[in-house]
Amino acid sequence: MSGCTDLNMRVKNFPELGFLILPGFLPASLVDRLVPEVDRWVDTGLRQLSIDACSLPEDAAPPRVELQMAAHAELAVYAPLLEILQDESLLGPSFVFHHLHSDRRPPGGAGKSWHHDYEQHPQRDRALPMVHALHYLGGLRPGMGSLAVLPGSHHQIAEKDEMSVLGTAQQPGEEEIDDLPRGSTVILHSALFHTRRAARGPAGAAPRYMVDASYCRTGAPWPPVKPYWRAVLAVGRTLESARAQWPELFSERHFSPYVSHARRPSV
Ligand SMILES: [Fe+2]
Repeated sequence: MSGCTDLNMRVKNFPELGFLILPGFLPASLVDRLVPEVDRWVDTGLRQLSIDACSLPEDAAPPRVELQMAAHAELAVYAPLLEILQDESLLGPSFVFHHLHSDRRPPGGAGKSWHHDYEQHPQRDRALPMVHALHYLGGLRPGMGSLAVLPGSHHQIAEKDEMSVLGTAQQPGEEEIDDLPRGSTVILHSALFHTRRAARGPAGAAPRYMVDASYCRTGAPWPPVKPYWRAVLAVGRTLESARAQWPELFSERHFSPYVSHARRPSV
């Protein structure tokens, strides 16, 4: 009961802080099936093909997308996650799937500078929330490539790379997340500034498995991030488990036309 109350309180704090940590959120049976799917996704080159397809025309699609893997599809519509997202403090009752990326990073992997991931070109408001659910399949350990966030920074209207000059350096007021059990999830407001510190794990240390899945409150068209976004949503609409309870989750009507990065207005 106290765990529930604690979760409710942390959900209520989300609008102010912009993040929510859910240690050990995913069941072991799901994580056990996700990890070999990520391995196959990376080792067979499918992940790279999905990245390469971002430079192809809109009617082309990679041979596979993540949602065509059974456990990844299950994760995208994982009911306990969607139930948290539908709280008014996060997305509210009407939201749409935006994208899902799956990756395995080696020990010693590079960091990523301070940035945010809110899709709006140019950035002009925060009227509708968008979130990224970061699923750390193997958990996080110090040195594995920690996540640092700047609580409350999602309230600023800023371009994604406005803080990139700071690299991954420690910032006043930041919260570093570097120790999470297996199957943990961190939900970020997508406009929250965050950084991934370089992994400094020794050779032979565990790789860092992370699947990020993004969802947006409906109400205005969202920019897609991949030219083959329609193909991804079409796969989502085949997922029986989502169709009854979340009929809008994979609907195209909540998106604006795709504009490639190169053709976006510069600001
Ligand atoms: Fe990010």
